[in-house]
Amino acid sequence: MVLLSRFLSVGLKMPSTVWRDKIHSKCRGQTYPRSDQKRLIIPDTKVKWSAPWPEYNPPEYSSPSLKGQAWADLEISEQFAPTFNQMERKDDHVVRNRVSYMGDYKVLNGYPINPVGRTGIKGRGLLGHWGPNHAADFIVTRWLRDRVNGKQILNEDSKKPILQFIGIQRRHGNEWAIPGGMVDAGEDPAHAAQREFLEEAMNSQELDPKNLEDLMETVQEMFDRGITVYQGYVDDPRNTDNAWMETTAINCHSEHGCLEHWQLQAGSDAKQVTWLEITSSLNLYASHINLIELVANHHKAHW
Ligand code: RP5
Repeated sequence: MVLLSRFLSVGLKMPSTVWRDKIHSKCRGQTYPRSDQKRLIIPDTKVKWSAPWPEYNPPEYSSPSLKGQAWADLEISEQFAPTFNQMERKDDHVVRNRVSYMGDYKVLNGYPINPVGRTGIKGRGLLGHWGPNHAADFIVTRWLRDRVNGKQILNEDSKKPILQFIGIQRRHGNEWAIPGGMVDAGEDPAHAAQREFLEEAMNSQELDPKNLEDLMETVQEMFDRGITVYQGYVDDPRNTDNAWMETTAINCHSEHGCLEHWQLQAGSDAKQVTWLEITSSLNLYASHINLIELVANHHKAHW
């Protein structure tokens, strides 16, 4: 699939981390996803590496499902010792991006260290790469409008207009989320955001070539007016002390309803897709609520 990346990045100030709640509220204190592996319980006061804990020795877990996968790293050993904090290239192509949006991270005894803090588990868990695992999220918004007169609907309390975004229900774990996914080796995050959106929210893999071309043109037009709202670490339930998720979140506001004549259809890793009203009480996967809050603030919408 060829998507031209003419994406505009409007310079919003990037927060160093995105969440408003406790640090590591999603990647602590529970059974590791899709396994029976328990995390070591980390009290709030001990999440930061700066809090002394000399006897800290969490269990180690790397999912057996990673074995033999071409997209995943091997176990760290004398034969496999990646150079962290750098782009890994082969024949001039990027094969792994081991650079973090958070700046250089520490490497201890050959293992990269989570830049935010402890998670109660060592290893890679379900994540393919040691260190940062890069994703991209695509937040498509529109104003909630009165069907009859087309006027924006205001929230009764805040008196601010209400935004909606296209949300998907993830196949794994059933949580509602922003459409998004992993950035492929050497891929531009803006391209990955469009690709994942098309697959998960528009079921592009099932469209005939003519419709797909028209849809891609529409999405590209929207995308040209997009802004990057965040680039950095995210509190994903799969994070470990040695592997973590980082994302590029892009907002495209569909002011003129340019997706209106297209039918949303869940595909790929999504089982449902719909326009969701943006409010602070939404319960979303990983740090997605925090990304949505940035978007609501940017548009001065009800929160
Ligand atoms: C989250 O994981 C990111 O924000 C992104 O939405 C997602 C990518 O993982 P998969 O959807 O590929 O599992 O942390």
